[in-house]
Amino acid sequence: MTQTNVTFERHLLGLKQLDKEEIVSILDRAAHWERQPNKVTHLLEGKFVANMFFENSTRTRFSFEVAEKRLGAQVLNFSAAASSVEKGESIYDTVRTLESMGIDAGVIRMKPIGLLAELAEKIKVPLINAGDGNNEHPTQALLDLYTMRKTFGEIKGLTVSIIGDIMHSRVARSNLWGLQKLGANVKFCAPDNMQSPELGEHAPYVSIDEALQADVVMMLRVQLERHDKGFIRSAEDYREHYGLTVERAGMMKPHAIIMHPAPVNRGVEIDDELVEHEKSKIFTQMSHGVPIRMAVIERALA
Ligand code: CP
Repeated sequence: MTQTNVTFERHLLGLKQLDKEEIVSILDRAAHWERQPNKVTHLLEGKFVANMFFENSTRTRFSFEVAEKRLGAQVLNFSAAASSVEKGESIYDTVRTLESMGIDAGVIRMKPIGLLAELAEKIKVPLINAGDGNNEHPTQALLDLYTMRKTFGEIKGLTVSIIGDIMHSRVARSNLWGLQKLGANVKFCAPDNMQSPELGEHAPYVSIDEALQADVVMMLRVQLERHDKGFIRSAEDYREHYGLTVERAGMMKPHAIIMHPAPVNRGVEIDDELVEHEKSKIFTQMSHGVPIRMAVIERALA
């Protein structure tokens, strides 16, 4: 294994820290990787990447693993539940341990907010944020931006409505920073107790009817695991007031698309029939996760 000399810029902590040019260059590089006919390259032969997930994941974890393997890297998968974290070892000590074994980069998902920036000051290998608490999920937003750019040609001038649990959503935050840097007009729609006043300083909260009049209607998952009991009255009540029902989808503009980072609560924030509807890009978003993460890993290591 080779030890990489990392500059701070090789970490990917969030889209708030990236400028427009860097975001565009990642999207362009992802387009390059999406066009490649060969599934596997040797670009990162001899490099070791550790996927360190201290929170559950399906899409992010597996698309990082596919991306790393397609780039020819050796992949180490760390699962907190089967590790010494269960004995009380800290996230910092875990990452330091893997670094001391000679990993070249780490992909990390965890609950605490602010810890990743601290780790990035102390850890020498590049760290890539795979989602930290309700702070940022930069690779999700990058694949969302990629999907929008591929659908509409450019992001500048698009109106994007982000609907649902804004307060608990790292996806909403990363998309807000990325979309505004690329010139989109962002609107939020959420019940009062799911609004984030801090984000409201950057984009307006609108009614569900106004939110539907957008080029992109991005639904968010109701994050039941981050809520105290009683946060929503019932799934039926949430669907009635804020869900993307078949009837509401009928009010969208003819060219508009439906997005959702998934996993989806079918019948709560989005009707079952809409998940694979012709307007829906939900599974297309997932497929874009691989080229985006290839571009991000390459940026960290190549
Ligand atoms: N969208 C997303 O982050 O999904 P996972 O939690 O399955 O990775």
